[in-house]
Amino acid sequence: MSRARISIDRDFTVAEVPRRLFGSFVEHMGRCVYTGIYEPGHPEADDQGFRGDVLELTKELGATVIRYPGGNFVSGYNWEDGIGPVADRPRRLDGAWHTVESNAFGLHEFVDWSKKAGTEIMEAINLGTRGVDAAREIVEYANHPGGTYFSDLRAKNGHKDPFGIKLWCLGNEMDGPWQIGHKTAQEYGRLAQEAAKAMRLVDSSIELVACGSSNSGMPTFGAWEQTVLTHTYEEVDYLSLHAYYQEQDGDAESFLASAVDMDYFIESVVATADAVRAKGKHKKHINLSFDEWNVWYSRPADSDSPEQISQQSWQEHPRVIEDKYNVTDAVVVGTLLNSLLRHGDRVKIANQAQLVNVIAPILAEPNGPAWRQTIFHPFARMAEVAKGQIMRTVVDSDKVETSRFGDADLVDVSVTWDEGTGRMALFLANRGLDGAADVEVRLRGFDAGSVIRAEVLDVPMGLDRFAKNTLTLPNQVGLRALDGVAAAGNKLTLTLPALSWAVVELNVEKA
Ligand code: AHR
Repeated sequence: MSRARISIDRDFTVAEVPRRLFGSFVEHMGRCVYTGIYEPGHPEADDQGFRGDVLELTKELGATVIRYPGGNFVSGYNWEDGIGPVADRPRRLDGAWHTVESNAFGLHEFVDWSKKAGTEIMEAINLGTRGVDAAREIVEYANHPGGTYFSDLRAKNGHKDPFGIKLWCLGNEMDGPWQIGHKTAQEYGRLAQEAAKAMRLVDSSIELVACGSSNSGMPTFGAWEQTVLTHTYEEVDYLSLHAYYQEQDGDAESFLASAVDMDYFIESVVATADAVRAKGKHKKHINLSFDEWNVWYSRPADSDSPEQISQQSWQEHPRVIEDKYNVTDAVVVGTLLNSLLRHGDRVKIANQAQLVNVIAPILAEPNGPAWRQTIFHPFARMAEVAKGQIMRTVVDSDKVETSRFGDADLVDVSVTWDEGTGRMALFLANRGLDGAADVEVRLRGFDAGSVIRAEVLDVPMGLDRFAKNTLTLPNQVGLRALDGVAAAGNKLTLTLPALSWAVVELNVEKA
């Protein structure tokens, strides 16, 4: 039997759980907006055309903040196209995904939808084809109380009260040659700095995210962050990170260790940001916004890769990268969430990409049902129970050998403790494909009380690690009770089945 020992000490905390870590992303891409969150005429749609079934699943997922409207889409988007009477809105070509955008859904609809979903808005602006003027105008439109051209236009369009959007992204993946209006780090750094200044002159209370690298494999990774922050350090609050993982050539061991790469990515960006801080003699710290992350398979060889997309004829909301997630993907997503939580002292925002249909935890058929993918479960549980302080964890685990990331811990973990309620939550993954793992948790400074919840997601009986939830079998993979969890004194013991993700919640008292 494999084994792992985890130590926690009551005095060793990382940070308060940032609630914005449980963010998601709605892009005008494929069927995320149209026939995803918005489908007038659907049997579950409300009077605004918002799908009630998707709204309910969004609430159950526990998403706290949602990035909108892109993504690559935003770099060619005119925000003004999505306001005013729908019949007057222009139909436009969207070059990013080679589709036709009807603009039936825009800023007002997203604000109303977010209110119904109970989620905060993270609005991305276009720094691809547009600049400082459009940046400050959208802030005036969204946040100024009234008595000016854009704030009065908002009122005329039905929203007298300001939207009060706090969180803004200064463009998207501007380092990527695929991006409309792609820029060098110098060009982007200066533009982002000036856009940030102009936006803050309209509303000084906003929080701003500058674009970091599109992924850590970019040839400019590191240098990009350094140059961009050298220009924008005083004007912005966060730097973005994006990462997508996939199983390559059947190498499940490396795929399951993707969080090792995420740890490294986060720690590298923190180091770069702090080096700019030291060199520029800045006082504040720049925090991180991991505003796109997930498992993503459908590229580059598949039919809906960006290369293939540009060959498609112009359509409205075609099916694009509707990845179907399996048990292995859910375990990986659980470990990526662990990585984000472990770094909650610096990663303050994270958005799983995307919310529905497009590489998403929720799938929704046009005129049909919506259901939870396997990756829905670790996200929803963690968003629900990760409260209070993130605990530092010391892990002494058997290892898994991987070709891409060296030796990785067999058991991956993150832990939170809410002193107010006396609840501790542990999020655990067994990366081992074959065997169960015995886990002993030492709780220094705590007395363990009753176990409130012990659930596991693993390979359902008679199936394999590729098992998924489908239209006809929407609940094939889910959470089940994890038996045999024992808590007493300063010790918790449990056994994780092979290839599994688990959550254990227990009452603890200070010893
Ligand atoms: O989430 C899908 C796409 O991935 C986004 O539009 C882009 O920012 C990233 O490359």
